[in-house]
Amino acid sequence: CGLSAESLFSGPSGYTYDDLILLPGHIDFAASEVVLDSKFSRNIRLKVPFVSSPMDTVTEHKMAIAMAMHGGIGVIHYNNTIEEQAEEVACVKRYKNGFITEPKTLSPTDSVSKIDLIKSQFGFSGVPITENGDMHSELLGIVTNRDIDFLTDRSTLIRDVMTKASDLTVAKESCSLAEANIILMECKKAKLPVVDEKFQLVALMSRSDLLKNRDFPLTTKDDKKRLLVGAAIGTRPRDRERLEALVAAEVDAIVVDSSQGDSVYQLEMVRYIKKTYPHLDVVGGNIVTCRQAMHLIAAGVDGLRVGMGVGSICTTQEVCAVGRPQATSVYRVSQFAREHGIPVIADGGISNTGHIAKALALGASTVMMGSMLAGTEECPGEYYFQEGFRLKKYRGMGSIAAMSKGSGKRYFTETGGVKVAQGVSGAVVDKGSLRKFMPYLTQGLKHGMQDIGAKDLPQLNEMRIKGELRFETRSASAQKEGGVHNLFSFEKAHPY
Ligand code: XMP
Repeated sequence: CGLSAESLFSGPSGYTYDDLILLPGHIDFAASEVVLDSKFSRNIRLKVPFVSSPMDTVTEHKMAIAMAMHGGIGVIHYNNTIEEQAEEVACVKRYKNGFITEPKTLSPTDSVSKIDLIKSQFGFSGVPITENGDMHSELLGIVTNRDIDFLTDRSTLIRDVMTKASDLTVAKESCSLAEANIILMECKKAKLPVVDEKFQLVALMSRSDLLKNRDFPLTTKDDKKRLLVGAAIGTRPRDRERLEALVAAEVDAIVVDSSQGDSVYQLEMVRYIKKTYPHLDVVGGNIVTCRQAMHLIAAGVDGLRVGMGVGSICTTQEVCAVGRPQATSVYRVSQFAREHGIPVIADGGISNTGHIAKALALGASTVMMGSMLAGTEECPGEYYFQEGFRLKKYRGMGSIAAMSKGSGKRYFTETGGVKVAQGVSGAVVDKGSLRKFMPYLTQGLKHGMQDIGAKDLPQLNEMRIKGELRFETRSASAQKEGGVHNLFSFEKAHPY
């Protein structure tokens, strides 16, 4: 019963996720046994197939850190200066479990207000104090929260409040991460400075990192145990400068960002990146057809971002008359990209875990989310109240508000020309922290995979290729039936 994916998509109509439903398979495993390992791009592996969108109301360093800690990856937006974006990337790379090799340091003659500044910018709560105020100079002490919590005069000099080196537990440079972890556990201190034989500071270890290490077994890391992070750039020649700064900040992947990815500008940019930085994975997009995919693959992309005008804040399909329903785009491009070994990111239109399961069942390797993650604590922006709801702003990068900050380049806006919006600004309800939301998404997806009868993504793909995954279309009334209905009212509880 039902149709194979190929028969379903061979008709003339395009389908959205909601137009389709998967028929259940056979369950012979627990949801906890489902493995969600996937690929973001040719060389970047994730533990869960979740990516946060490069939008200025979604992904800066806090979001990217949380995404990586939970097994996914965040892509830092570029609606900011080159320096700001590079610093966002650097922040994620600095935030590491294990040795912090470039901790912020101060000198004893600095004032406590400088500690406050570091705390507000980077969130660090312990700052080593060295003779010259920088690394590789003699460690004289450390300032942690408890040294300055109740201090009213923030102009006080650090030397008058710091815990002196003679009272510190330190680790020697030669000790391994495991040995340093044991010292940190046993000494019951929040921070453990690591020093060389001249007592010069070479690294710092943090107790909270140690705890996080324990709490986040899925964390996606590079070979130096730093979190993975992506960053978006545009297709203009000036973006090469941005690229250089991002590479210097040790970004792991570049997403070349455009509302229509099949342009000479993008192809040139992809070729340039692959030639100049061959070690760097490059994702191209956005696209919805195999022809667009073919051009980008020929240019050398390592991943494809699929979706056009399907995002919750998008108006591209209405304004420009182009795009494609997302389920069809994901299936068609994934089929083609698979032949070339290129992973597909299904971007936009995800509003529940069922949509994620459908995107993966249609061949995507990962899903990129904007509105799903918007409204979490880790998104940029402040909460505000409206009509009794706690909200955060969420806006399309093609909205007038975002474009006036610079994102018009994503939509080929010409300097000095009339701005045509391809997105809107809005707000979403507070979703709490990713600490709870990501495990909820992960578990929801595992239940979906269990119902389908696939223990991991390779099996899911094999089932689709063999025609064992069976789909049906849903009429408007079937969609209504599949949602909550016939109730006078119901409790719309927090989903997690
Ligand atoms: P969701 O549905 O997750 O979609 O909110 C996020 C994706 O939407 C794209 N995006 C836009 N598309 N106009 C558009 O047509 C816009 O203003 C806009 N802003 C973002 C983008 O691909 C994002 O990942």
